[in-house]
Amino acid sequence: MKKTIRDMDVSGKKVIVRCDFNVPLKDGVITDDIRITSALPTIRYLIENGAKVILMSHLGRPEGEANMKYTLKPVAERICELLNKEIIFISAPEVVNDQVKKAAEALQAGDVMLLENVRFRKEETKNGAEFSKELAKLADIFVNDAFGTAHRAHSSTAGVADYLPAVSGFLIEKEVQFLGNAVESPERPFVAIMGGAKVGDKILVIENLLKKVDTLIIGGGMAYTFFKAQGYEIGTSILDAGNIGLAAELLKKAEEAGVQLLLPIDVKAAKAFDNEAETAIFDKDKIPADWMGLDIGPKSMELFANAIKEAKTVIWNGPVGVFEMSNFAAGTIAVAKILAESDAVTIIGGGDSAAAVEQFGLADKMTHISTGGGASLEFLEGKVLPGIACLQDKN
Ligand code: 3PG
Repeated sequence: MKKTIRDMDVSGKKVIVRCDFNVPLKDGVITDDIRITSALPTIRYLIENGAKVILMSHLGRPEGEANMKYTLKPVAERICELLNKEIIFISAPEVVNDQVKKAAEALQAGDVMLLENVRFRKEETKNGAEFSKELAKLADIFVNDAFGTAHRAHSSTAGVADYLPAVSGFLIEKEVQFLGNAVESPERPFVAIMGGAKVGDKILVIENLLKKVDTLIIGGGMAYTFFKAQGYEIGTSILDAGNIGLAAELLKKAEEAGVQLLLPIDVKAAKAFDNEAETAIFDKDKIPADWMGLDIGPKSMELFANAIKEAKTVIWNGPVGVFEMSNFAAGTIAVAKILAESDAVTIIGGGDSAAAVEQFGLADKMTHISTGGGASLEFLEGKVLPGIACLQDKN
């Protein structure tokens, strides 16, 4: 267990907080602010407890250049609105400069400032010690609350912890609690639903979860690589050709582990990767040569629904069809609805499945939606996340 801000006396202290404000933007406007709202409990707690708060984050991948396309200015404005309070934002190309140092020195209890995009500095992604020290010198305590970036060993996520007492914020605490409990001490039956296009991207998660779950459901584009491994023809459906052997191995491992592995039994297919293309439902052993499967079929929805209904804990990572196209969204909608109606603990991995649940208006029906895409995957793979490992342990 890691120490949190509750374990520190933050009153009158300068607290530098790494958040993940890597939000989607369209024409300079934030289109989804969940990563900002998720950081508010930590920020509010620090304000209420008299800390001098210095926030920092990356946005996009400016690759060490002060490219104003990636400025955190829109984020600063959104934080002001959400907190209903002025905050200090200095758009320094060097992130830390004399003006920033002076502003940090002059902070009063309850004040909030935001630094410019930490990835404007080349050293950030290399975990350069000089930049870590510059950040650390601004403050007395380091708080990491950037779960979405906890799988990166960067100056602002891990390096700074070499020079300051380091603890977690409430978001990291919550993510670790939900994802960690689900994997380590789930109420059973424990079902995982894995989707997405490529087996290769999910291989380590599947391997790790096979040791933990009672049932593993596989949908999405990667199901076709498993079909191929079972000897079926898949028409023009997406194939991760280099991983057919791996898929066969996973099928064997599931059997050895006594895990029920469910693959789709029918698919909704089309003649082209196009929402307007002609569609038809085929059993999985009857996909014609010139058709591609783009969603699960009705029999698979029923099969998956029955397994999910039995579950007491469910983790979902990756859509089961091309849900971005309305004609191939039915399977993913069905899975989301069953989860929304379920009494089980429902955990949604970040990224596409989180986006799907949001899009269907079912987000508030889930127990927990992770703010981490890559980070939640690595967590479920059982990897140590450097942004968490660097924090102080509870005694
Ligand atoms: C994310 O969006 O997954 C995180 O903010 C990490 O971003 P990165 O992949 O650019 O490190």
